[in-house]
Amino acid sequence: MTQSICIITGSTLGGAEYVADHLESCLTAKGFNVELFNHATLVDIQSQPILIVVTSTHGAGELPDNIKPLFEELENQPLDFSQMKFGVVGLGSSDYDTFCHAVDIVENTLKAKGATQVCNSERIDTVTNFEHDETAENWLEGFLVKL
Ligand SMILES: Cc1cc2nc3c(=O)[nH]c(=O)nc-3n(C[C@H](O)[C@H](O)[C@H](O)COP(=O)(O)O)c2cc1C
Repeated sequence: MTQSICIITGSTLGGAEYVADHLESCLTAKGFNVELFNHATLVDIQSQPILIVVTSTHGAGELPDNIKPLFEELENQPLDFSQMKFGVVGLGSSDYDTFCHAVDIVENTLKAKGATQVCNSERIDTVTNFEHDETAENWLEGFLVKL
């Protein structure tokens, strides 16, 4: 049976969206059924068995505006995500004290709803790492092995 994977993005300038597009291509090439949302709502994600979140960090360690309302909604609702496995890829800048803090927000929020984190999150430092797609693709290999 074809496995389904949902990817959602948090992005302001498109960097995280490009990385998500790349992961979608990798997964499609491997035969997965992929759904990608750049403005995900609760309905889009709540029944997904496997979720990958690709998000940058903005403001003072905050989620980008296109994904923030979803995570605020998650925090405030008594949801059960115990059927969900997830992984996170973050883009951020080590110039900030709050380097990739959005990754922590995503991890904590999903785990609090009972979801299972498949592997360690990837935190891409865009100051020193210019191979975002390749870094995320390597992370994806480890994620899939542990699924
Ligand atoms: C106004 C602003 C605030 C930012 N704040 C943070 C931050 O708190 N922590 C962090 O790790 N990166 C921070 N960044 C860096 C972005 O996360 C990084 O440039 C990322 O690649 C942007 O990806 P995006 O195009 O998908 O939004 C900030 C960037 C801007 C422009």
